[in-house]
Amino acid sequence: MNKNVILVGCGNMGYAMLKGWLASGTVRPADITVVEPNEALRSRAAETGANVRPSADGIAAGSADLVIIAVKPQVIRDVLPAYRALAPHAAFLSIAAGASIATFTDLLGENTPVIRCMPNTPAAIGKGMMGIYANRHVGPQMMEFVNALLSASGEVAVLESESQIDAVTAVSGSGPAYIFHFIECLAAAGVNAGLSEETAKLLAMQTVYGAACLAKESDEEPARLREQVTSPNGTTAAALDVLMGEGRLAKLLDEAVNAARLRSIELGK
Ligand SMILES: NC(=O)c1ccc[n+]([C@@H]2O[C@H](COP(=O)([O-])OP(=O)(O)OC[C@H]3O[C@@H](n4cnc5c(N)ncnc54)[C@H](OP(=O)(O)O)[C@@H]3O)[C@@H](O)[C@H]2O)c1
Repeated sequence: MNKNVILVGCGNMGYAMLKGWLASGTVRPADITVVEPNEALRSRAAETGANVRPSADGIAAGSADLVIIAVKPQVIRDVLPAYRALAPHAAFLSIAAGASIATFTDLLGENTPVIRCMPNTPAAIGKGMMGIYANRHVGPQMMEFVNALLSASGEVAVLESESQIDAVTAVSGSGPAYIFHFIECLAAAGVNAGLSEETAKLLAMQTVYGAACLAKESDEEPARLREQVTSPNGTTAAALDVLMGEGRLAKLLDEAVNAARLRSIELGK
């Protein structure tokens, strides 16, 4: 299913995803055109074998099946009009936080197929989590292609409504920062318990990594895995009494996720 793809913006996220797509072979370098005004970033993109351009000038209508928008949300309204001629033949996939489907259809035409995607930074190492929502103009073939393309950067969850993007932002988009903080706190607690900083950091990091891998690979629910390592009156039970007593950690995380979700809604206005 060869498709011609235009990637608009090849900064941190755009470049990380581009490398993943090419490594997975979902798209051939010759079928990708990167539009990036920054010369250094353009050269970096060119090294992958993709075609590069400094601007949308000269891109002919009908020359792309998918246009991927990876610029900062603040510049979306200035950037999109240059690609209007490609719609509605081309679908538009946006990874810009907060930019709604309506922003795209207002600028590109009502019938434009638009997919919103909320990735997270582990996508840079192929371990990302992408939540996607597509409007009704996106056909099954394009959906399949987008799914295959994004799977090169990690897992893909297809959402039922656009408003769920705010929840995805709050859980997996911002989520890596919560886990980084958890690692910091676990390491600091390890130092307080008598370990060196270096050892405590290694222990905390590898424990989060190992537990996440185990939870993902196991057929058991995370709650069951937790129960399996918690013997009555044992050490884990003593710690979990502190974390789970009166639903402490659950309430804290619920509050944190809700704060991020409300902020995401606010930023999208
Ligand atoms: N990084 C993340 O963790 C993350 C996570 C989730 C979602 N996102 C989303 O990903 C998008 C990109 O973020 P980023 O961190 O990759 O930003 P970035 O590093 O600033 O990359 C954006 C690139 O787009 C270029 N650009 C500006 N105007 C352009 C135009 N008209 N045509 C083509 N390229 C243009 C910028 O060049 P100049 O610098 O020269 O303007 C820059 O190189 C954002 O919308 C963000 O919301 C990022």
